[in-house]
Amino acid sequence: MQKSLFITLEGVEGAGKSSLMDYISELFTRAGHQAIQTREPGGTKTGEQIRDILLDSNNISLESSTELLLMFAARMQHIEEVIKPALASGQIVICDRFTDASYAYQGGGRGIESSRIQTLEDWVQEGLKPDITLLFDLDVEVGLRRAGKRSQADRFEQEDILFFERIRSCYLERANNESARFRIIDSGESLENVKQQIQKILQEYL
Ligand code: TMP
Repeated sequence: MQKSLFITLEGVEGAGKSSLMDYISELFTRAGHQAIQTREPGGTKTGEQIRDILLDSNNISLESSTELLLMFAARMQHIEEVIKPALASGQIVICDRFTDASYAYQGGGRGIESSRIQTLEDWVQEGLKPDITLLFDLDVEVGLRRAGKRSQADRFEQEDILFFERIRSCYLERANNESARFRIIDSGESLENVKQQIQKILQEYL
């Protein structure tokens, strides 16, 4: 059986990670691996329903702690229903955002203590961690401009620039503290260049 791999993609809004999912998946399938693409919040029927609540810009009074708990509720379902079974059958799991986003958005962005997030991580994940995390790093203003062109702003995208600056700093700090797991991609480069950076990083796993 082939060796499983759990890859997560992270970054601020507009950093391009979601549109590069197909490319990353193709790198693996072309090399003969079985890969699945999934996302958070979401990835299951229940998780996608929770996602709708979280992104709905009409939910203006959602508490930060409610937001965090909903992220982890969706994550619990996702891990049990999708991630663990796929890894157990030797597949490559490519996940658009995971727990680093909770530390960056609910921790860095909203100001929730990281010890609270850590408690939920320990409970929900029981030690499950990504093997590799690709951090798509980009100037926040550039990212928001790109995201703004794409679609109407969701509940997170309506936050001010300082919120996203805190998120970016938190991601970079985490990448620095866990350099064995994180790989930083410069998303300010051309699409072709970003693909080359990805290919170089993933080469050893193909
Ligand atoms: P997306 O825009 O990458 O699809 O992600 C949806 C939003 O959810 C994005 O603004 C980041 C946010 N998010 C969190 O705040 N915490 C989390 O744990 C996750 C997974 C996503």
